Amino acid sequence: MINAGIVTVSYIIATILFILALGGLSNQETARRGNWYGIIGMAIALIATILGVVTAQYIVLLVALLIGGSIGLFAASRVQMTQMPELVAILHSLVGVAAVAVGYVNFMDPTEHLTGVELTIHDIETYLGILIGAVTFSGSVIAFGKLSGRISGNPLALPARHWLNLGLLIGAIWFGREFVLQSAAGGGMEPLIIMTVIALLFGIHMVMAIGGADMPVVVSMLNSYSGWAASATGFMLGNDLLIVTGALVGSSGAILSYIMCRAMNRKFLAVIAGGFGTGGGAPAASGGEDQGEVDPIEPLETAELFLNAKEVMIIPGYGMAVAQAQHTVFEITKTLREKGVNVRFGIHPVAGRMPGHMNVLLAEAKVPYDIVFEMDEINDDFPDVDVSVVIGANDIVNPSALTDPDSPIAGMPVLECWKGKVSIVLKRSMATGYAGVQNPLFFEDNTRMLFGDAKATLDEVLKNL
Ligand code: TAP
Repeated sequence: MINAGIVTVSYIIATILFILALGGLSNQETARRGNWYGIIGMAIALIATILGVVTAQYIVLLVALLIGGSIGLFAASRVQMTQMPELVAILHSLVGVAAVAVGYVNFMDPTEHLTGVELTIHDIETYLGILIGAVTFSGSVIAFGKLSGRISGNPLALPARHWLNLGLLIGAIWFGREFVLQSAAGGGMEPLIIMTVIALLFGIHMVMAIGGADMPVVVSMLNSYSGWAASATGFMLGNDLLIVTGALVGSSGAILSYIMCRAMNRKFLAVIAGGFGTGGGAPAASGGEDQGEVDPIEPLETAELFLNAKEVMIIPGYGMAVAQAQHTVFEITKTLREKGVNVRFGIHPVAGRMPGHMNVLLAEAKVPYDIVFEMDEINDDFPDVDVSVVIGANDIVNPSALTDPDSPIAGMPVLECWKGKVSIVLKRSMATGYAGVQNPLFFEDNTRMLFGDAKATLDEVLKNL
């Protein structure tokens, strides 16, 4: 057992480590260190809480830790890189369900018997914790379904959906008020349950209404919600570390949502309102139909184009993650750089299926950071690029985002590789990308299609180099 002073000091150390972790994770070169800060901070937080805050039921706690820890370890070791976004979404849902559970337990079996204003404040904390927790839970489960392809990525556009949202919001506030009033008189369970059901419905409806291409914003928004849910739980339990940690996750998730919105040229409220860019949910005008002939290319000719180029721009997308082609990409980069070709990488902010997805893969393959550029840094350079290689990317190089106002990705800035001399697109078929729209880039005169699994075709290209 440790005393309250040591718990407070441990919590302060853990808080500092969490802040250092966030700072570290903002840059590839310091990300590994940032991760370690987070792991150590969480270990300190857990040990201090178990030894200094928990007073009974140690066996139950240890069994729960063992079961939860084993499931986490098993899931994390088995998950494929391409399934990471789904895993993150389902983990967010667990934070939500924990906040709901803590809220109910805290209400049914309060540790202290409060009265008057103190009770009202505590009831509002409980109400907010359960509300945010329930929205996070159901929203994250739907996000998991959409990201894993179990639920269609198309936005569900119910008639009068904005009125429905407004109705749910008013209902949640009304029953919250009823809960606080009835709780003061010794009741309150009924409005609390009704409010929870409303919050669950709101979470489902909110994420169902969001179109596939706007999922990056949803992922980071639910990340933020899970933080606020944890923070509200901290208020309920009077646990400072949970309040601060939740606020850190909540605010960093909110900042990430803002960055994602800016990257996709979306207004946050428009994304949340749903059905964005589809004219009220109608299928996109450009659909999935072909738009002419494409010009295929083979690995040998691709290698020749590379060797004759001075400037090569590599644009990785989700397909590179699926094919696990990053190591071959690195080998090709190394070979070309040794031959004097200037090879750079152009990274779109929403490439892949999670923020920083491409950066993680390239770092894993040991691609030097100084040749990896953000979209804004290199988009003006394409007229000077001899060969752009689009590896398993689709939506992020789709010119219709700039030209077709009815497209689900309308307005999203894209990597403008068609302005270069030649673009070589690696993909397996003419299938569409995540947003489900055909890509006019494939039919441009200066585009060549290299069909096949990206890893297999790039291995061939490397051999020919
Ligand atoms: P996508 O538009 O999804 O295109 C990926 C392309 O990769 C597909 O056209 C697919 O074509 C190809 N592909 C798949 N497996 C392949 C393989 N083994 N070898 C070669 N090619 C393969 O990806 P993107 O361009 O990276 O754009 C990201 C999209 O995901 C955006 O719409 C974005 O909004 C959305 N999204 C992003 C996030 C975040 S936070 N990054 C989160 C959720 C959703 P084939 O099937 O023909 O091979």
